[in-house]
Amino acid sequence: MTEDDFHFLSRLVRRRGGLALSDGRDAQLERRLLPVIRRFGFRDFDALMKNLRLGDDALAAAVTEAMTVNETFFFRDKDQFARLRHQVLPSLLAARADEKRLRIWSAACASGQEAWSLAILLDGMALAGWTIELIATDMSGDAITRAEAGIYSQYDVMRGLSLEDVARHFVPQERGFKISDRLKRMVSFRKFNLMDSFGWLDDLDIVLCRNVLIHFDRAARISVLERMAETLSSDGVLLLGEAETPHHLTALYQELPGGGIYTRARAQVTRLSAAI
Ligand SMILES: C[S@@+](CC[C@H](N)C(=O)[O-])C[C@H]1O[C@@H](n2cnc3c(N)ncnc32)[C@H](O)[C@@H]1O
Repeated sequence: MTEDDFHFLSRLVRRRGGLALSDGRDAQLERRLLPVIRRFGFRDFDALMKNLRLGDDALAAAVTEAMTVNETFFFRDKDQFARLRHQVLPSLLAARADEKRLRIWSAACASGQEAWSLAILLDGMALAGWTIELIATDMSGDAITRAEAGIYSQYDVMRGLSLEDVARHFVPQERGFKISDRLKRMVSFRKFNLMDSFGWLDDLDIVLCRNVLIHFDRAARISVLERMAETLSSDGVLLLGEAETPHHLTALYQELPGGGIYTRARAQVTRLSAAI
């Protein structure tokens, strides 16, 4: 890969997906692009680059997706899920006791484990009569297809789920385990790029945007965090990954005690209610 190729690819994936490529990992990048080269029937890497430079949009999307990291597992960051269950949800449920509605967004759900973990958690709470909207999105079409299918290998279900969870929420298949129909009805999956408009997302009570901003460049992190703040209800919360924080990027959030969970900064909310 020439230096020019690297810079072209860096700019492309930054503009399309907010992703920051690390310098000096050219061999790794080429390896990641091998499945794309095969899928599009190119002879080699140079042929791929040539078509990319001619503006092939489907190819550019596939190249960007190939640069993403899709690692995930059920109940990733158990402490955060415990705080969601015992602190955040009780207070949101109390605040929504009249309307009995909750809107939750898993904003980079990869192959779905994060969204299904939320569904399992909510299913274990007494929420009869509540309307729970659980939206799960990811830029990767392949990841969303897997998430929607809800079929996981034995290795996948062993990562984060108890035997009871598996017995209660999954149906054994010839190869692996399929999420139950009851949970399936709880989640709507959709392919969605965080660099696109959040216009359709509003009044959200809980947003999970975990372990994705870490792969973004600074400008994309700021942009996503600022636009995400607007999608939250006045007491809604944002959950970030363990290695992520809005500090030094935006003043729109304040951290709840315990860390990793944020609400809109009080000043922002006050300004909003003053404007209404
Ligand atoms: C490491 S996974 C995190 C999955 C899950 N949130 C978790 O914490 O386990 C990162 C996901 O972010 C997605 N992603 C990367 N860039 C994105 C973008 N611009 N818009 C939406 N999703 C993106 C990737 O496709 C990948 O599935």
